[in-house]
Amino acid sequence: MPSLRLGTTAPDFEAQTTKGPIKFHDFIGENWVILFSHPADFTPVCTTELGLVAALQEDFDARNVKVIGLSANELESHEKWIADINEVNNVDLKFPIIADPKREISALYDMLDYQDITNVDGKGIPFTVRSVFIIDPKKAIRLILTYPASTGRNFDEILRVVDSLQLGDKHRITTPGNWKKGDDVIVHPSVSTEEAEKIFPKGVKVVKPYLRLTPSPF
Ligand code: BEZ
Repeated sequence: MPSLRLGTTAPDFEAQTTKGPIKFHDFIGENWVILFSHPADFTPVCTTELGLVAALQEDFDARNVKVIGLSANELESHEKWIADINEVNNVDLKFPIIADPKREISALYDMLDYQDITNVDGKGIPFTVRSVFIIDPKKAIRLILTYPASTGRNFDEILRVVDSLQLGDKHRITTPGNWKKGDDVIVHPSVSTEEAEKIFPKGVKVVKPYLRLTPSPF
């Protein structure tokens, strides 16, 4: 199995989810997708994370992003867990969660942690780690993150990366560290300053010949 890298096509698969069966490439359709995994149902960090993602639903919709979770348990368990997530976080979780009790999709996406001996189930089988994949409408993987089981993720950061990727796909720009929507952006290194002054009508500030800023095109 080829290793998953940025730019490779997200592997297709069929799965049962809490919103019905899916074929992953059909699910992606013309959208951006965030696929994110959890070690297991009814675990505390995961319960808070899924609540956070459910609360951000409008932010994902505004960016044409479909969210899909994965946890290595059966559908029946997921259904009961969603009731808990909604209750604890006061949300209405609307996105699908993949049931992957045999860890087949987890293996396909390299989400199983064979090294961390603290992250195993009662039978010693590795849990999935906290993986995140951002996938674009061409089905290319654009971001891969792996967090330890003990650390909940920052989903504002994941939205920030979506903003950066979507903006960079539309304009010849990159985004600086800690950039957020609305901040100045960096002219892509492949664009000369002369060309930048033509294509960025809000002006170009040359900090160094290799670091040119322009106001965000948002
Ligand atoms: C949690 O979600 O709290 C968790 C899951 C697996 C290992 C450690 C923590």
